[in-house]
Amino acid sequence: MTKLIIDTDPGIDDAMAIFYAAAAPEIELLGLTTIFGNVTTQVATRNALRLLEIAGVEAPVAEGAHKPLNLPPFPPSANVHGEEGFGDIPAAEPKGKALSEEAADFLIRMARDHKGELVVCPIGPLTNIAIAMQRDPEFVKNVKAIVVMGGSLEEGGNITPHAEANIYHDPHAADIVCTAGDKLVLVGLDVTHRILCTPEDFVEIAANAPKLGGMLQEMSHFYIKFYREVAGLNGCSLHDPAAVIACTHPDLFETRAVPMTVSCEGETSGATLANPESGRDPVNVCMRVQADAVKSLFLQRLATLA
Ligand code: BDR
Ligand code: CA
Repeated sequence: MTKLIIDTDPGIDDAMAIFYAAAAPEIELLGLTTIFGNVTTQVATRNALRLLEIAGVEAPVAEGAHKPLNLPPFPPSANVHGEEGFGDIPAAEPKGKALSEEAADFLIRMARDHKGELVVCPIGPLTNIAIAMQRDPEFVKNVKAIVVMGGSLEEGGNITPHAEANIYHDPHAADIVCTAGDKLVLVGLDVTHRILCTPEDFVEIAANAPKLGGMLQEMSHFYIKFYREVAGLNGCSLHDPAAVIACTHPDLFETRAVPMTVSCEGETSGATLANPESGRDPVNVCMRVQADAVKSLFLQRLATLA
């Protein structure tokens, strides 16, 4: 059983990743922490609570940072995920509330309580993780792994020609997280761009699981429209679900050990750079993926939902 906390900015593919985690029998979801990115942090918290309620998962939500470490706040990515984060699905208030504990403190506490067992899977900007690392020098030692959806080594960017969106939205935080060495796995565009989920796949998802799968299918229309307009694709990349799947099925991914720094300035800001001169311990960057296997796992697990 993988004890998992997802740090998230829901977000359409975040919703896919969270429903996947709810469905996966090998995952024990210990909580969600929230971050700005696709939406504001407040909206991310509301959406995270709502997703857990819809999925029938009882797990805490801790709200995270409201802005990047050293940059002013970014506007949410409404063109990719819709004004409220779920495409054309209107906002709705959850029944529950977030913890009064801040995300970084929740992460630190859970890493201590589940020493050597907790996998943290950030699928948004890395601010909360960097704050946890700064507040507790033992944080990286205490976690089993930090498996990030973010970055790109050879694929180029998706928000600028150089940068992947999660890294771009807080490059200083990402640079701190890149000091985590062997505990860190980056599931970036080099692999997530290989995993495409088509409108036909979402028809299947909705047919197998009318309530939760149906909601994902409804959201996917907006997301796939973006991919069609920007990249001419008939489908969307499974960015965030791929990171969650990498937490439990690392054998489906081939990694490269790379000492890494993040550009924090100028037109390359947010680029993840192989930097052997940095003297840093290498991190694990996913460079290849068994894309068909990842996608069929995604479809199979979602089919077990309501
Ligand atoms: C990442 O950016 C966000 O738009 C997605 O949710 C994903 O986490 C992909 O670059
Ligand atoms: Ca995300």
